[in-house]
Amino acid sequence: MAGAREAPAKKVLVWDLPVRVFHWTVVGAFAIAWLTAGGRGSVHELSGYVILALVIFRIWWGFAGTKHARFADFFPTPRRLKAYFVALVLGKKRHHLGHNPIGALMIFTLLALLAGICASGWMMLTRAYFGIQWVRDVHTVLSYTALFLLPLHVLGAILSSIAEKQNLVLAMITGRKRASPGIEAKSEEELFREQTLDRLRSVEAFAFMSVMIAAGTLVWFNIELPEEAPPPEREQPEVAAAPKPSPDVDRRDYVYGVPPSPTLTWMLASGGRLYDKWYAALRVPAPRETHPRWPASNTALSGAETWRCKNCHGWDYRGRDGQYARGKHRTGIRGIRRAIGWDPRKIVAILGDANHRYTNVIIPPDAKYRVALFVSKGQHNTNRYIRRDGSVRGSRQRGKAIFQNLCAICHGFDGKKINFGTPEEPIYVGTYAKRNPWEVLHKIRNGFPGKTMVALRAFRMRNAVDVLSYAQTLPTK
Ligand code: HEC
Ligand code: HEC
Repeated sequence: MAGAREAPAKKVLVWDLPVRVFHWTVVGAFAIAWLTAGGRGSVHELSGYVILALVIFRIWWGFAGTKHARFADFFPTPRRLKAYFVALVLGKKRHHLGHNPIGALMIFTLLALLAGICASGWMMLTRAYFGIQWVRDVHTVLSYTALFLLPLHVLGAILSSIAEKQNLVLAMITGRKRASPGIEAKSEEELFREQTLDRLRSVEAFAFMSVMIAAGTLVWFNIELPEEAPPPEREQPEVAAAPKPSPDVDRRDYVYGVPPSPTLTWMLASGGRLYDKWYAALRVPAPRETHPRWPASNTALSGAETWRCKNCHGWDYRGRDGQYARGKHRTGIRGIRRAIGWDPRKIVAILGDANHRYTNVIIPPDAKYRVALFVSKGQHNTNRYIRRDGSVRGSRQRGKAIFQNLCAICHGFDGKKINFGTPEEPIYVGTYAKRNPWEVLHKIRNGFPGKTMVALRAFRMRNAVDVLSYAQTLPTK
């Protein structure tokens, strides 16, 4: 070892191991992030988190690291920049063992860009900033700026290599550069012992502060909107306002809450309401943009609606093979019948895939699990109860008894007490039951997302079918 260092062109260790590892891991992670950009895939997100961690580490190391790793060593002060340019113009040689001021300028710019890219990318996944256009714009612009600066950075390294007659790219791998005379060559170990350890203590405070700030920001942006809070007041161009809370404040717990120890039956009904319209069931803002997987050929629906499970998979859970084979809901997407009996965890994973893109910010994990339970264990076979023409195989007489004793509380004996339409064009229980028995059966079983309607989930399927069959006889005018 010692022999090598005493060779004629004396090389000294300039870039310590952490600096080198940082440099090349960032290169790799940045490349991966670019290759996986566009989709909101988990690889892209993961590479973003890796870069963020590396940048935070590098900032810390900029204070705690060995001589040439420290920001103070190469911070491009106006004085240093001026001296560098003067020397350049006069053609004088100035040897910079660490970064020269121009290189340093580039490094700080790239570090700031990376931090900005990570921060904006991460904001895109938070509840508070999800779907907000300016955040996405910032992410894109910063990413392209970094991409544009990288070749300049490489070019700078090559030009400096020529000027200094040594390979600076190689130096970032071996850590060693040729030194001007009078500089002692040190081993990695010596470097660390002499230059780092005494600094670590003062730097602990800095590290502690950064961690606290990072944790604070995390908590702040991921904070759940409290149940009682009004919909976010800030302008949210890309996110629809949360559905208005039911005026029925007393029953809010029933509509949006989770019982202290939920039964499987309750979870299935809750999952059914989420399948119906999760953003109404959870009272959260819905994405405004059309779901990326929504077929362009279908222009009948757009925006939040295209994020409802039922709009892709159908009220009969049969997708393209059922009611949605044609008409304004035609998507060509298969149903979810095949998933009956699947492990709910597998279905939860599907909800995060490229076909779905429900991050945990969009639908919280506990709700995802309930909708997965519904898919696995809660579907009924609509073909068994509803004929092709929409008529129902049930007992009207038994259904009538249920309707008069239960549904009539809210809908009146004739089903006309609540008008779902307009005064001019009223829609009553009878209207819906005839128009879309598949939907009404789903709602009778599972309840109405975001509304105080009962769910018959705890009773035998026959009851729901019977009441549906009676509801079809109720007046539509
Ligand atoms: C924008 C359309 C769209 C929405 C909304 C949507 N899905 Fe899907 N879903 C798909 C596509 C596309 C597939 C893949 C179908 C295929 O393999 O042909 C799929 C597949 C599935 C599968 C697997 C089915 C199988 O047989 O492989 C399940 C389960 C599923 N979705 C559940 C849900 C649930 C639950 C929701 C609501 C939280 C939902 N989906 C919302 C488009 C959608
Ligand atoms: C506690 C009150 C309540 C009870 C009991 C109740 N509902 Fe409802 N129902 C509602 C509310 C609230 C809505 C939603 C009204 C709206 O859209 O604003 C609704 C909506 C409906 C709809 C419209 C579905 C749609 O697609 O828009 C149908 C059909 C319906 N109920 C049938 C029934 C039947 C059948 C029963 C008996 C099993 C029943 N309801 C029991 C409160 C109730």
